[in-house]
Amino acid sequence: MFLFNVRLLLTFRLEKNTAHVFVLLIYKNLLTCPIASLFPIGTLVQTGGFNDGERNIRMFTPCWDETCDWNEFPGYLSQRRWYATNQILPDGRVIVVGGRRQFNYEFYPKNQNNNSPIHLSFLQETSDPNDENNLYPFLHLLPDGNLFIFANTRSVLFDYNQNRVIKEFPPIPGNDPRNYPSSGSSILLPLDENKDYIEAEIMVCGGAPRASFEGALQGNYMQALSSCGRLKVTDQNPTWVMEEMPLARVMGDMILLPNDEVVIINGVSLGTAGWEHGRGPVLTPVLFRPYVNIGSQWRFTIMSPASKPRLYHSSAVLLRDGRVLVGGSNPHIFYNFTGVVYPTDLSLEAFSPPYLSPIVDQVRPNIQYMSSDILGYRVFSYITFTVTRYTSASEVSVRIIAPSFTTHSFGMNQRMVVLKLVGVTQMNGDTYYATIVGPSTAQIAPSGYYMLFVVHAGIPSSGLWVQVL
Ligand SMILES: *[C@@H]1O[C@H](CO)[C@@H](O)[C@H](O)[C@H]1NC(C)=O
Repeated sequence: MFLFNVRLLLTFRLEKNTAHVFVLLIYKNLLTCPIASLFPIGTLVQTGGFNDGERNIRMFTPCWDETCDWNEFPGYLSQRRWYATNQILPDGRVIVVGGRRQFNYEFYPKNQNNNSPIHLSFLQETSDPNDENNLYPFLHLLPDGNLFIFANTRSVLFDYNQNRVIKEFPPIPGNDPRNYPSSGSSILLPLDENKDYIEAEIMVCGGAPRASFEGALQGNYMQALSSCGRLKVTDQNPTWVMEEMPLARVMGDMILLPNDEVVIINGVSLGTAGWEHGRGPVLTPVLFRPYVNIGSQWRFTIMSPASKPRLYHSSAVLLRDGRVLVGGSNPHIFYNFTGVVYPTDLSLEAFSPPYLSPIVDQVRPNIQYMSSDILGYRVFSYITFTVTRYTSASEVSVRIIAPSFTTHSFGMNQRMVVLKLVGVTQMNGDTYYATIVGPSTAQIAPSGYYMLFVVHAGIPSSGLWVQVL
């Protein structure tokens, strides 16, 4: 705990707007496999974990002096939640789904009258007897308020209010599992409020073949998966569209970037997640560009390599300045800094996507002013920004991105909403004025803190923290 406090103090000497991102990463290094959500007021709520922490809730509310500390609520959860996933809901609660040998879900805060876990047979059906493959299920809150839940190869549209599977989607082609220990990753692609009907599309990339975990136990590290699948879950009869990444990867993190691109970063090309089970670190991130035609060599591009392998227990998060911070790597039960194949690594490193290149500085927007740092639902706001070489209003968009809690290759609560843009007008010289409308519902953007970016000609500004309320 001493080490933790020292590092926390360092954190708070950083710029206000990056502070809690660092808190998430530092906290991750200290607990084994916890999960968390950022509450609407900015409190980090962490649920469950391993051993004597498996039913605990811990909370941390940042402060600007050195007085704040964690609050722990032992035994709050009705079940042990080790390798469970959570998601912030439109009403401000957090749903906690699954965990090892838990085929059920519960809520935080709990309902005082009825706190029993609610059975979800989908989790039981997707659990393989030996290696599970349904841990850290992928959860995404959809615009209609239902949850998308993906486990193993299967996925459902789930109404958590009525405990009802509304529909099951087709399994992802290939019969290869995507959840722990076959840890692929999953994202909800940006939701666009400028469309009459808001579509939701899920993208799942990488993972490990079904026999990989058993193979790794015997020292046979199988090639990871290189496929990605996209599923437009708002379609009547959605089907998976499969594509190949240029590299195979398990334990890759998928991070949404402000300009619609997605970076797939960290992980290995052989073996699986779990202690000592990964080999062949993939140092090069891959950038996915959804706006480039399928099959083009520019759709997935390989970026320059990181300096360090990032294996099991590594993490990634988008920073306000547009970089992606990666950190950690510990594939051992203990912290072993020597004498092992991939030593425990507590360092942080940042990936700078191509949009940060000075070559595009001329078209980069710089936010000058926003009418309020509170973005009300359906409320008009305005932002002024400068740009040296302006193109046209059709090249401008304003987006909000929720900070994710990324662990075991999945960014919980990660989402981006492209806000309704009413118009852009020139104020004077290189200064422009954009009118936007706050999110239309809490299903589309649950209340809480988001980073707001102005994007012009594919190049994002630095982000501004706003509170959706
Ligand atoms: C890893 O660290 C633990 C605890 O310090 C130690 O017991 C173990 O021998 C180490 N493993 C290796 C391979 O050095």
